[in-house]
Amino acid sequence: MSADTTPGTRSAVKKTAKKISLLITGSGGREHGLAFRVARSPLVDRVYVAPGNAGTALEPGVENVDIQPMDFDALLAFAREQQVGLTIIGPEMPLVAGVVDRFQAAGLACIGPLRLAARLEGSKSFAKHFLEKYHIPTAAYQVFTQPNEAIDYLQHQQYPVVIKADGLAAGKGVVIAADRAEAEGTVKAMLGGTLVGDAGSRIVIEEFLVGEEASFIVIADGVNYVPFASSQDHKAAFDGDRGPNTGGMGACSPAPVVTDAVHQRILDEIISPTLSGMRAEGHPYTGFLYAGLMIDAEGMPRVIEFNCRCGDPETQPLMSRMKSDLVQLCLAAVKGELANQTIEFDRRAALTVVIAAEGYPGNYDKGKMIEGLDDIIDETVKVFHAGTVVKKNSVKKSNMKKSSTEKSRVLTNGGRVLGVTALGDNVTDAQRKAYAAVQKLKFSGMRYRTDIGDRAVRRESLVENSVAIS
Ligand code: AMP
Ligand code: GLY
Repeated sequence: MSADTTPGTRSAVKKTAKKISLLITGSGGREHGLAFRVARSPLVDRVYVAPGNAGTALEPGVENVDIQPMDFDALLAFAREQQVGLTIIGPEMPLVAGVVDRFQAAGLACIGPLRLAARLEGSKSFAKHFLEKYHIPTAAYQVFTQPNEAIDYLQHQQYPVVIKADGLAAGKGVVIAADRAEAEGTVKAMLGGTLVGDAGSRIVIEEFLVGEEASFIVIADGVNYVPFASSQDHKAAFDGDRGPNTGGMGACSPAPVVTDAVHQRILDEIISPTLSGMRAEGHPYTGFLYAGLMIDAEGMPRVIEFNCRCGDPETQPLMSRMKSDLVQLCLAAVKGELANQTIEFDRRAALTVVIAAEGYPGNYDKGKMIEGLDDIIDETVKVFHAGTVVKKNSVKKSNMKKSSTEKSRVLTNGGRVLGVTALGDNVTDAQRKAYAAVQKLKFSGMRYRTDIGDRAVRRESLVENSVAIS
């Protein structure tokens, strides 16, 4: 996907505008997606990613910096030294720990919620109490810290039931228990500290919602917001939504389940009351707000969870489709000036297939050579990197084939390795292109789901058939 195929806004912005340096923290596919998009902004002259991955290292206009996202002192020192004009925080943990508070206190622009607003993700019980207080639709629930009380409660529940650790648990804090025995075992393991440590010292037990999931992300300035296009994640490890929960094995945008009517309901019944509720609580929400939603058969959206940052892998298709200047939007959000901003997405659909290392989300090997990155030449395809690293000390041999550019020195370095993303006329077309590109890639132990986007594709064919009939 070249800059030309995803028209940017270079020509739309005055040439005289002072350009800024920009810092992104994190090292996943989301951060590569964000870096790819902001590097195309006419407002930016340099993009740093701390610590980044091989994809950000090789991305034109982007440079990696060896600082971890939780090392706030080092990030602040770097931002001051390099006169960084905007920092975008990728992952949730630093947000929940108050990184934006630190940047703000230092007078540095940083997009994300303050610590107390980030509790929408950092504490499931905070989020559930908040949703209840402001009558925002969500699953019925109870909060527990005592195993006996939780086990009593389980006697009167319908199954399956959902058990969630209150705190951040890196995707391992949600268990859908099929029956009472499994639920009791999970409650004991979470509250006993053996499943997710301290994050499980308080738990939420909630009703299992039925429907189709969608992700809905907005950028907010505390009062106003601008919604992104809808998207859909695929969280289970294996085809047919089977296997353990992962960070996300693929995503597409738009999510056809989010029709225009559903979109409006999400804005009116979820996003607007959430932002006004957070204001009423004295914690106006600034930054990216991600609502994980369940849409039922009647098109009613309910909140499954909030995240206080962009989704991974949803960001990859979203950044591929975004035509507006993300930097302009972030700067407006930080200044509380989103009211007059608009946002535009490419009318085409985008789909990302995550390529993972065998064993993920459990144990997996690292350091496998990735082949085929140079063979993907379709301009509507972009391979975003996640767990990758450029091989150190690799010497370019003089007899190397011309096509052996730097990309051929990329090694695996994580569970989710790549996010192969394609733009297409609709999700069906984007899916075909993304999987064609996946065939060109190879590393030992490579695996991926083969059904990313199938739900969206089914909805598209239903619409096509009904148009044909009418
Ligand atoms: P979370 O980390 O809260 O997004 O949960 C991970 C996944 O568990 C979600 O993407 C859903 O697939 C599933 N899940 C969580 N809560 C519920 C619920 N109340 N009903 C049905 N599925 C749920
Ligand atoms: N894709 C799910 C998440 O970012 O939490």
